[in-house]
Amino acid sequence: AFGDMVDPFGRKIDYLRVSVTDRCDFRCVYCMAEDMTFLPKKDLLSLEELDRLCSVFIDKGVRRLRLTGGEPLVRKNIMQLIRGLSRHIKSGALDELTLTTNGSQLARFAGELAECGVRRVNVSVDTLDPEKFHEITRWGHLDQVLRGIDAALDAGLAVKLNAVALRGFNQDELPEMMRWAHGRGMDMTVIETMPLGEIDGDRTDQYLPLSELRQRLEEQFTLEEIAYKTGGPARYVKVAETGGRLGFITPLTHNFCESCNRVRVTCTGTLFMCLGQEDAADLRAPLRASEGNELLARAIDEAISRKPKGHDFIIDRNTRQPAVSRHMSVTGG
Ligand code: GTP
Ligand code: 5AD
Ligand code: SF4
Repeated sequence: AFGDMVDPFGRKIDYLRVSVTDRCDFRCVYCMAEDMTFLPKKDLLSLEELDRLCSVFIDKGVRRLRLTGGEPLVRKNIMQLIRGLSRHIKSGALDELTLTTNGSQLARFAGELAECGVRRVNVSVDTLDPEKFHEITRWGHLDQVLRGIDAALDAGLAVKLNAVALRGFNQDELPEMMRWAHGRGMDMTVIETMPLGEIDGDRTDQYLPLSELRQRLEEQFTLEEIAYKTGGPARYVKVAETGGRLGFITPLTHNFCESCNRVRVTCTGTLFMCLGQEDAADLRAPLRASEGNELLARAIDEAISRKPKGHDFIIDRNTRQPAVSRHMSVTGG
């Protein structure tokens, strides 16, 4: 076996996010431009290569694996990859195999996912108003996503609802959304919008610090700090009135880099050590250079040895330039 991954700041890396495609059937305004050019197929890692890559990471100490995109469930034959990776759940090498999805294809895949040992999924929903949903996703239909969520719950999957908090868009609706989620047994997390990639609109005006949302919530609800942890960056509270959990993901107001446990790989095999930094390492070349995994393991170690201390996100009201030029759909969140 290869050695575990520990970065220069003593952080153990045991959580891997893999973006399996840069494509998506939605065009969320904060994630993509409307006219995205997607990667040619030859640049993508094949499903076999993705499996090999994940398996080397698992060998190097990864205990939680999350597939993202783009939209992971639009990757052709994605279930073949998931079914293959589920062997690591069965063997006990992996504690969790999961996805972050926009929910559009969940009605079709929920049953199979549950069969493969997936126990929970995170579904991105920023509003429960069908028209606003169509506005923010440009191409999405809320009813389709709601059917997907129902299918996931019916299949026994735990569902976490992810909402990016946007001033002037969903700010007033978030308490109601939380009530809705909790009423159906789902956790919810709210997320501060991060400045990644050029997008059409102006993100600075929509940025909502979650301290502000929390204050508003506390006028209506009793929020109790709890120690609950998923391995992700959210800090959770229990809401006394609903009995549900609400997580706050606050890269801007309360940076969580100190306890970062993760790295991310794109669908072309580029390893990003931090969501909010440009530094990256190519894993596709060592993956393709030989059938053995030594070169790949060495390239991973070399990259982990320069994992940065934290991100550089700022909402800059003067330059209005994103801190990182790649879109969220490249690294998958
Ligand atoms: P679990 O805790 O395992 O449920 O997942 P998660 O919340 O880490 O993952 P999810 O894909 O649901 O992401 C929710 C939000 O957290 C997204 O907006 C991500 O971009 C953000 N996020 C996840 N990991 C990081 C990170 O390391 N740094 C930053 N800045 N944001 C992150
Ligand atoms: N800032 C914060 N979160 C974002 N997401 C997509 N783009 C951004 C952004 N700019 C969220 C999605 C999804 C998760 C993977 O990342 O809504 O829930
Ligand atoms: Fe697709 Fe998710 Fe990006 Fe929306 S946020 S365009 S659903 S990848």
